[in-house]
Amino acid sequence: MARDIKIAVLFSGEGTNLENLIRHFHGKRFGEKTIGIVPITNRPEAGGIERAKRHGIDTIVIDHRDFPNRESFDGKLVETLRALAPDLVVMAGFMRILTPVFTSQIEAINLHPSLLPLFKGADAIRKSFESGMKVGGVTIHRVTQELDSGKILAQSCVSLENHDTLESFTHKIRQTEYRLLPETIRELLGICGW
Ligand code: GAR
Repeated sequence: MARDIKIAVLFSGEGTNLENLIRHFHGKRFGEKTIGIVPITNRPEAGGIERAKRHGIDTIVIDHRDFPNRESFDGKLVETLRALAPDLVVMAGFMRILTPVFTSQIEAINLHPSLLPLFKGADAIRKSFESGMKVGGVTIHRVTQELDSGKILAQSCVSLENHDTLESFTHKIRQTEYRLLPETIRELLGICGW
């Protein structure tokens, strides 16, 4: 029997991207294989846990506060991912600075709400909104040791109009994320034409 396709999704907060990925992929057939999303979070209070549950999916919780340092948390994450052996590891709103314990052992992609290399790190939507630029955007890149700096896999622009507020700009960024991330995952897994 063909092994199922497993996508591990790491998140820390609301998990709207996680839910979007569940809607796009979870339980869908690709040839003889079925795709499964495995949510993982570092925050027991993350809203995404409830979102996943509404789709009948349990989240693996690894609370970073239970670990004495970043390396030991990352070690547990690596151990968990190794046991799962996913086809793809996706960070969607995973707000952790990673150490080489993770980045040297796990290949992953990250979703970031700006046109990298501009506006790395936290609060990227606000930084982009306040920059005076007429465009912002969304980037999907490979995860490396340097924050938000790995090879860019996909990017999409979002216009910033004079009438935009931070709220309306955020909405446009999110809508772009909901399109670009599934598109990129389909390409990476070679399931473009399904
Ligand atoms: C998304 O906008 C994502 O791009 C961003 O966090 C949000 C998570 O929203 N990620 C980063 O800023 C990473 N540096 P969600 O939990 O509703 O998917």
